[in-house]
Amino acid sequence: MSRSGSGRIVVAAGGGVAALKTPFLLRRLREAGYEVRAAASERALRFTTETALAVAAGGPVGTEARWFAPEGGALHLELARWADLMVVAPATAAGLARAAAGLAEDLITATVLAGARRVLWAPAMNPEMWHHPATQANVERLRAWGHAFVGPEHGALAAVGEGEGLGRMSEPETIVEHVRHHLTPKDLEGYTVLVTAGPTREYFDPVRFISNPSSGKMGYAAAEAARDRGARVVLVSGPTHLPDPWGVEVVRVERAQEMYEAMLTRFDEADAVVMAAAVADWRPTETAPEKTPKQAGVNTVELVPTPDILAELGRRKKTGQVLVGFAMETQQGRERARAKLDKKRLDLIALNFPTRAQSAFGSEFNEVELIDPSGHVEVTGLRSKRDVADRILDRIHDLLARKEAERNAQ
Ligand code: C5P
Repeated sequence: MSRSGSGRIVVAAGGGVAALKTPFLLRRLREAGYEVRAAASERALRFTTETALAVAAGGPVGTEARWFAPEGGALHLELARWADLMVVAPATAAGLARAAAGLAEDLITATVLAGARRVLWAPAMNPEMWHHPATQANVERLRAWGHAFVGPEHGALAAVGEGEGLGRMSEPETIVEHVRHHLTPKDLEGYTVLVTAGPTREYFDPVRFISNPSSGKMGYAAAEAARDRGARVVLVSGPTHLPDPWGVEVVRVERAQEMYEAMLTRFDEADAVVMAAAVADWRPTETAPEKTPKQAGVNTVELVPTPDILAELGRRKKTGQVLVGFAMETQQGRERARAKLDKKRLDLIALNFPTRAQSAFGSEFNEVELIDPSGHVEVTGLRSKRDVADRILDRIHDLLARKEAERNAQ
């Protein structure tokens, strides 16, 4: 089962210049699979248009002009009951103040007050306004009622001559991530998941190394999915171009040896390990302290194996801990993956197909076969890396539950 994008979301635009981005947010949410409805305050329509919102939402926009229907329906009640989550983007200082005071005089605050089940605010304002004790007190009050916030973020501000500061609305993609987080069932709450991602670099002098093209996307997707499902997540990452995922403890390493040490010191805390990193199998015997000068003719670099991190974790694995590895094979995939599973004492191995066009290194998609110790093979088919990650976490969830039941029966 895929956990991406299911739920009904009301996106309400408040009256700030960031309302320009609200149509993009609606579009991104629909692309992620959510059902959306748009609403806008009177002032928001100075910065964006009803048509832009309607096109992006794929349906009519709730406005104050149409708040009460001719037959007597009230939009704030209807929206509040329909939505699984209400996202206010942008949220203004005045909007937060009205909501915190219960002043339901505009459509957005009225919908919040009418009992929207969950509310996620994406504030956008001048930094002085954001830092003002009045705004901060309002935010605290809303948080205490269970409301959530995304941003504001540091960056270029819209008003002329204002430069940079903490006040920009989070980008639509970031808001979608938070939506996903809030709507995902927390079935991994109470568990710690240790994830590795990316390549390692094995230097033979200070500026040259052996590595591989791993982007880290699979491991980062696993870390984010585990976070959204309520787990405490530690991500041990080799060098990647990806930003640190929010809500995850990120440990950056370069060499296999550093990854080995980072994993071993944290392994005792882990209930599950997802070893998605493409650890280099060899390292140069020596790393020259200075850059080696270019020489004519044939040159050789002597290599020794790096420590096998997963095999070591397999040796140290205690009852109840779940270990998941990846195997990247270009031939005899299943047999080799199965052999690794046994040798490294894994609970599950995800077999990748690096030479298939869509699931190659760096792709947004992946296709894996999940093989367990009984030899059972589950074929995921080509999906987003996030969906593959969620499928692996479904299996981890079942394994953790089974191991817990076995322990209780002893
Ligand atoms: O043996 P092979 O490298 O094919 O096994 C792949 C699995 O083992 C991956 O999960 C990878 O992260 C892990 N691995 C490791 N340490 C190594 C090499 C691979 O933990 N030195």
